[in-house]
Amino acid sequence: MKALVLSGGAGTRLRPITHTSAKQLVPVANKPVLFYGLEAIADAGITEVGVVVGDTADEIRKAVGDGSAFGLEVTYIRQDAPLGLAHAVRVAREFLGDDDFVMYLGDNFIVGGVTELVDSFRTERPDAHILLTPVLDPSAFGVAELDAEGRVSALVEKPEHPKSDLALVGVYLFTPAIHDAVLAIKPSWRGELEITHAIQWLIDEGRDVRSTTISGYWKDTGNVTDMLEVNRSVLETVVPDVLGTVDADSEIIGRVRIEKGARITGSRVVGPAIIGADAVITDSYVGPFTSISEGCHISDSEVEYTIILQNSALTGVRRVEASLIGRDVQVTPAPRNPSAHRFVLGDHSKVQISS
Ligand code: TTP
Repeated sequence: MKALVLSGGAGTRLRPITHTSAKQLVPVANKPVLFYGLEAIADAGITEVGVVVGDTADEIRKAVGDGSAFGLEVTYIRQDAPLGLAHAVRVAREFLGDDDFVMYLGDNFIVGGVTELVDSFRTERPDAHILLTPVLDPSAFGVAELDAEGRVSALVEKPEHPKSDLALVGVYLFTPAIHDAVLAIKPSWRGELEITHAIQWLIDEGRDVRSTTISGYWKDTGNVTDMLEVNRSVLETVVPDVLGTVDADSEIIGRVRIEKGARITGSRVVGPAIIGADAVITDSYVGPFTSISEGCHISDSEVEYTIILQNSALTGVRRVEASLIGRDVQVTPAPRNPSAHRFVLGDHSKVQISS
């Protein structure tokens, strides 16, 4: 059995972060979200992994390498344009050969891994097996309808009037039967080859498509709200440790991990939180559910429920909440006169000011 990990895509919902970097590499508790998926695949006993990459290929390659750090053998598969999940299966045809495979969306986060699922697929081998989870707003997802025996009878992409609340989770198991399906379908109204259409094609052909409904935690980290929520949940499990330095005027409360070379002076850090290597926190408050990456400088500021990427600085800013801040960003107060906000914002930035 192989794995196909989708790490291309446009990532429009995470702009402007995705103008300059891959969304699969945005850190959750200071580790790229993609790494959690690769670890889950390795845990399931799979070693041959195809990683589908697009415009951010170089960055993904640099982060994942040959996969040996995860106990995997990674092959990179170039997708020239993000033409859909079923298109990614098409371009991976040669790599996949006639093997069964698990398809894993590189920006998805699943607590509990995929081992059980992969094991049962190995023994039962239906043509396809999908994962479902109940959601509050099914019309925002691909939704499955099940028959009386629990078999999948239909899949509808973002239905106006959903017939169930069961949304598709970003992990799919396939036999080579999927290859005929991805060749048979036509692009959808949004110009993409949809994996839901390919699975629907299998259903229409009378093939065996099964599902498992998970009640555990799943998130598509494609938008900021979900990204922060995943970060919150992973921080709850971080192993607290102080590998950096904390001066006598600082207070560290609760589950806090302070990486090597980080320095905390005159500050209060309330966990769960993680402070990356060589970060400097001075005269500041870092509140719960905050991940501060390597090399950041936080001084005379307050920040909570936020992810800050590498080498960014907050100086004299209160108070930052529910934010995703990219790399090498600087946030400072404006000069007192004239009393005005001053911005240098990249394309598609989103700023909410409190005054
Ligand atoms: P999506 O989040 O569905 O698509 P996207 O990356 O284009 O994002 P947005 O909707 O914000 O514009 O993709 C799910 C995963 O699959 C993600 O890791 C990107 C990857 N992907 C590919 O590798 N190739 C593709 O053609 C598509 C559509 C997605």
